[in-house]
Amino acid sequence: MSKILITSALPYINGVKHLGNLAGSMLPADVYARAMRLMGHEVLYICATDEHGTPAELAAQAAGVDVGQYCTQMHEEQKAAGAQFKLTFDYFGRSSTPSNHALTQHFAHVLEENGLIEERVSQQVYSNADGRFLPDRYVEGTCPNCDFEKARGDQCDNCGKLLDPIDLINPYSSVSGSTDVEVRDTNHLYLKQSDMADKLRDWVNAAEGWPPLATSIALKWLDEGLRDRAITRDLKWGIPVTNKDGSVREGFEGKVFYVWFDAPIEYIAASQDWAAETGNDWESWWRTDNGKGDKDGEGVQYVQFMGKDNVAFHALSFPTTLIGSGEPWKLVDHIKAFNWVTWYGGKFSTSEKRGVFMDQALDIAPSDYWRWHLTANAPEGNDAAFTWEEFQASVNSDLANVLGNFVNRITKYCGGKFEGKVPAGGEPGEAEAWLVAELETRIPQLVSYYEAREFRKAMAETRAIWAAGNEYLTQAAPWTHYKTDVEQAAIGVRYGLNLVALFGVLAQPIIPDAADKILSAMNIPEDNRTWNFGDIANIVEALPIGHEISAPDVLFAKIEDTDVADWTERFGGGA
Ligand code: 2FM
Ligand code: ZN
Repeated sequence: MSKILITSALPYINGVKHLGNLAGSMLPADVYARAMRLMGHEVLYICATDEHGTPAELAAQAAGVDVGQYCTQMHEEQKAAGAQFKLTFDYFGRSSTPSNHALTQHFAHVLEENGLIEERVSQQVYSNADGRFLPDRYVEGTCPNCDFEKARGDQCDNCGKLLDPIDLINPYSSVSGSTDVEVRDTNHLYLKQSDMADKLRDWVNAAEGWPPLATSIALKWLDEGLRDRAITRDLKWGIPVTNKDGSVREGFEGKVFYVWFDAPIEYIAASQDWAAETGNDWESWWRTDNGKGDKDGEGVQYVQFMGKDNVAFHALSFPTTLIGSGEPWKLVDHIKAFNWVTWYGGKFSTSEKRGVFMDQALDIAPSDYWRWHLTANAPEGNDAAFTWEEFQASVNSDLANVLGNFVNRITKYCGGKFEGKVPAGGEPGEAEAWLVAELETRIPQLVSYYEAREFRKAMAETRAIWAAGNEYLTQAAPWTHYKTDVEQAAIGVRYGLNLVALFGVLAQPIIPDAADKILSAMNIPEDNRTWNFGDIANIVEALPIGHEISAPDVLFAKIEDTDVADWTERFGGGA
């Protein structure tokens, strides 16, 4: 057993997230956290709302409410949406908490003492109409990289390139729309990432188990020459830039830390808040100096989940903060980065009615359906297009036909012919030997896919195990044998019931509600639901003879063509 620290990228506070956001960080992190807990590891899964920066201020302004109030309300909404998707965060924090203020200010102080933060005069876009500097998203214009006309000051949504607002062509204020803007001098703090480039390159090169997507993005940034980053902004809402005595740094009145400086620090601050609320010890997860860290290889494994646009910040900027502090902080071991889930190959968009958002999704279908489909089609190697037709196919074929029918068929048959009790009798033959051989190959393979965080492969293997169960029942054909040889039928039913229990156990990380229904109908106590498989040959005879079971209610309702037509109309589709 080891300790596994898991974080998923913090969702911005500005509105409930769409299914692409869910599929590219929080959902796979949850599936992984659940699987690791089932394997007996001690897991700490942390997430939070990312509450600072221009996204928060702009969204609050659009909603016509005070930004602090807006964040409190949206935090509750995002937390509720996560709970409805059965995301098992150990703690879902907020980046605006006092603990994150204190820790962010602490890092800034030690980094400056170590010569890694420097105050510089920089050039910023100033709006004469608005009477203020325009940081990041407050300025828009044409992307110098791809000519996209609505690029945001900090990043182009079209080509993904991180931008400096002063590089935009034809800039205008997104606050007032005014084009009366000019570039003016102002002071900001800079994180001297360039000083850390060699150390970071060695560290990235030594990293193991990162998907090529993560390593290649990190190395590309290093190859292009790592630039120092401004870590303060001209905004009111955020973490103030202070001196060590807590007073505001001279010249930094009206400025706060950049959202991307404080957001990853919130992973630690949220763990502190978790510890304070639960009486746990956060340092044993985050500090490597107390004998409980990762130095001896028995300590913490830290895995981060995120979309590809977040890699540079997690692979380079946040490690600069942690290493540069000179303090013994735990660094990430594995970065699991994802491509995008697209909506029929295009972008999700609320205004254009394209795509489904987390709060709408559950009015359409239960969370298990989404969890299965989005995990089985995780955007691992490439972007993955969501389509209603494929959603319908995964639910109807994988869940309803392959898993649901199997469970239904064998539990009902047992109820009808064997009084709902696991029957004794029969000798294992060819079909049973084939089944055991399948499980002996497939279960260890499945476990290793989970350990490697290969979600598509893990889902394909799960489906293959369910399919092997169906194949076994076809071969064993207890319903045929029952007419002439009840003992021979009994072994088919007994193995079939043990498979139902196994399928329920294996389904827990992905479709927790259905898994619970199956395991409750099979009368399996909580303690026997873990992934301690032991000798796999015993799995098919694990249930005691005479153990009482029942048939669960319908597990998965099929999605009809009329549903697909209706959803396409409401939420957009391919045409
Ligand atoms: O891209 C985003 O949605 C950011 N809010 C992710 C922040 S992750 C972190 F470092 F906190
Ligand atoms: Zn661009």
